[in-house]
Amino acid sequence: MSDNFDVVVIGGGPAGYVCAIRAAQLGLKAAVIEKRGSLGGTCLNVGCIPAKALLQSTHLYEMAAHEMADHGIKVTPKLDLDTMIDRKEAVVKQLTQGVEFLMKKNKVKYVVGEGKITAADQVTVTLNDGGEEVLQAENIVIATGSDVASLPFLEIDEKVMMSSTGAMEMRKVPKKLAVIGGGVIGLELGSVWNRLGSEVTVIEFLDQILPGMDGEIRKTAQRMLKKQGLKFKTGTKVTAAKKTKTTVTLSMEPAKGGDAEDEKFDACLVAIGRKPYTDNLGLSEVGVDMDERGFVKVDHDLQTNVAGIFAIGDVIGGMMLAHKAEEEGVAVAEMLAGQSGHVNYDVIPGVVYVHPEIASVGKTEEGLKEAGVDYKSGKFPFQANGRALANGDSEGFVKILSDAKTDRVLGAHIIGPQGGDLIQEVVQAMEFGGSAEDIARTCHGHPGLPEAVKEAALAVAKRAIHS
Ligand code: FAD
Ligand code: NAI
Repeated sequence: MSDNFDVVVIGGGPAGYVCAIRAAQLGLKAAVIEKRGSLGGTCLNVGCIPAKALLQSTHLYEMAAHEMADHGIKVTPKLDLDTMIDRKEAVVKQLTQGVEFLMKKNKVKYVVGEGKITAADQVTVTLNDGGEEVLQAENIVIATGSDVASLPFLEIDEKVMMSSTGAMEMRKVPKKLAVIGGGVIGLELGSVWNRLGSEVTVIEFLDQILPGMDGEIRKTAQRMLKKQGLKFKTGTKVTAAKKTKTTVTLSMEPAKGGDAEDEKFDACLVAIGRKPYTDNLGLSEVGVDMDERGFVKVDHDLQTNVAGIFAIGDVIGGMMLAHKAEEEGVAVAEMLAGQSGHVNYDVIPGVVYVHPEIASVGKTEEGLKEAGVDYKSGKFPFQANGRALANGDSEGFVKILSDAKTDRVLGAHIIGPQGGDLIQEVVQAMEFGGSAEDIARTCHGHPGLPEAVKEAALAVAKRAIHS
């Protein structure tokens, strides 16, 4: 049986399901194909959401164990890991079912199975329940996301050698946990298990964690996380791994050469990045170009080299973030409906949900120096923010960078309480082409953490009031 659609989206993650909803809102007949058996993609099922659920639970545990006493509340917490993991799964279920409801509400056809592009205007789905369904498509959108990258000698079994998925399902706290990769996943999930009592060692190939972020933030983050108990082996590469049923011994050596050492761990999380996922999609057969790393190549309109086939989200690379994927989903749907869909790649925030949160948007100081841009910088510490002190959560700072001549905001970097929420004010200002003075002259409620953003903006003009 074959059915005709204006848009057939392959992949029901943040890129795909959002694209399908927006297309339907604009009057297009849309279908979304997802093989996982649950919508929401990596993000809702095994990524953003479960990670944030565990980060929140373990933050509360950490507060009960170490911080509440300062507020005059004396408690001795007892960990019930099963409840914590079950709660995380319940949150995932609620959200993924919510997306399924949104498909019905928007009259998007949801096909449960694996989609393969069998012609430039046709997708054939191998249904999870058996059988096949052929969808005729005016336009096809590839939104198949990404998968864990690994090293040839690290065989992931999700028990001892884990990806992020396994590391969010452990029902026992490992005594010693190795984390290979000091990026976003390594630090978020490393924090989770560190808070629950694991001895966590982060092994990072580069000399510093969090590549790509502002240098000052990277240094501060490592210092703060070290204070929390995470151990760091930077400038170190893992060269071999020997597994038993319950342990793994990693061989490590300095990245620049030197003596090798072996260390035994109870579990290991591999978090060295993610790779595009295009397995069994039929891309070569229909002639869709991919780059040397396997990312689907697209033009300015997110269209591949094959007319009518578009690609969005992690599968095209760039920032592998859910909100970037969503923006691309909306942009493609709007273009297909004849509107001028657009993604402003210069203003996409990135947040690392460790404590305190690390958030970033726009250019780093290093990037501006390299590009020879004359800029001003304003910085404000949370130590001087009344709300942060009242909350007992005052580590970190806000830094705003603006153009030396025009004062237009070029970037902002925050490490501090609720940094992920605070960055949004600067994102908005940047989207409107705003200046540091625009933020500085905006009235902020007192006492509030956002006042630290205002003060950093004032500091750009060397006129912060409280520091
Ligand atoms: P995906 O979410 O990967 O969705 C693609 C979907 O396509 C998958 O469900 C897959 O099953 C399906 N699929 C693939 N091939 C086929 C096929 N042939 N037929 C049918 N279906 C198919 N990002 C953030 O912005 N914030 C965070 O806090 C954050 N936390 C993360 C934490 C972890 C542990 C991980 C792993 C990632 C995190 N990310 C976060 C990244 C975020 O999950 C991704 O950027 C986002 O999910 C990308 O969306 P997508 O729709 O492009 O791909
Ligand atoms: P990442 O790219 O953030 O970090 C990988 C780290 O591993 C880097 O520091 C890199 O230098 C290091 N590395 C690479 N090869 C190595 C090796 N052989 N040995 C030791 N270190 C090595 O990737 P990560 O953490 O796996 O996350 C994948 C994606 O998921 C990211 O693109 C990220 O954007 C997204 N994500 C986003 C989150 C958020 O927005 N809060 C949370 C988690 C993931």
